[in-house]
Amino acid sequence: MDFDEHTTLEAVMDSFRNTPDPRTKQILTTLARHAHAAVRELRPTHDEWEQAIGFLTAVGHKSDDTRQEFVLLSDVLGISTLVETINGDAHGTEGTVLGPFHMVESPERELGESIDQLGTGTPCVVTGTVTGADGVVLGGATVDIWQCDENGFYDVQRPETQPRGNGRGLFRTDENGRFWFRTVVPSHYPIPTDGPVGELLAASRRHPYRPAHIHVIAETPGYKTLTTHMFVADSPYIDSDAVFAVKESLVVDFPESRDQAEADDYGVEIPFRRAHFDIRLAPEEAPE
Ligand code: BEZ
Ligand code: FE
Repeated sequence: MDFDEHTTLEAVMDSFRNTPDPRTKQILTTLARHAHAAVRELRPTHDEWEQAIGFLTAVGHKSDDTRQEFVLLSDVLGISTLVETINGDAHGTEGTVLGPFHMVESPERELGESIDQLGTGTPCVVTGTVTGADGVVLGGATVDIWQCDENGFYDVQRPETQPRGNGRGLFRTDENGRFWFRTVVPSHYPIPTDGPVGELLAASRRHPYRPAHIHVIAETPGYKTLTTHMFVADSPYIDSDAVFAVKESLVVDFPESRDQAEADDYGVEIPFRRAHFDIRLAPEEAPE
């Protein structure tokens, strides 16, 4: 049978007709439909198609246990954020992308402890309360924190200058659902650009920067696990995140404080920066 531009797609769709799992069938037919539509619209030359296959091959070759170039590709195309948005729960704090740097377990730390082991950045105290959607305080919830240093590097990117676990802490909320810890104000930083995703950004004249942020995963039984960030309000790139992950509700002021009583309470010197971020967890079962 001769295939033209449209009957080729029909034949491919038909080839999936015996797929027993309905979701698999839906995924295969939807991908075929959209991919064919893109190719009909773009009308690539053989060279261009080879280049496309070469790009995806390079993305695969760049990926290993500690580097996931496909995730980075999904991030810069806004697909990670789209998946996050589709799966968000309006009853809780907004979620955002996980990112590639949650690759080591955060060390368990006491409330109030510092996650910064370098002592070179701007001191900062972060506080917050974890509640359910109905406002009930959630004592004993875990709050997993990770961030880069004041130069924009995570511990795993600079093993020669940062001890492993720097910028990371696994905290447990007190009986009133509160958490607090000391840190330094993180910097904005570029996502990794030494692979094919970096080439994509350069080809489209896009910058690779993410605004300064602190990552959070909050978790307790009976509630949906929340993966999110608190973004530093006055950070460069707050309006042009390379991975489209900023949500207005997650932007937090980090004002300077000269409150001596509070400095004594938290064991920091004045001046220090101060951030507060409350976390609301959506219940596992949707409320009536
Ligand atoms: C991060 O915030 O760690 C991150 C997120 C997406 C891509 C690269 C880095
Ligand atoms: Fe990050």
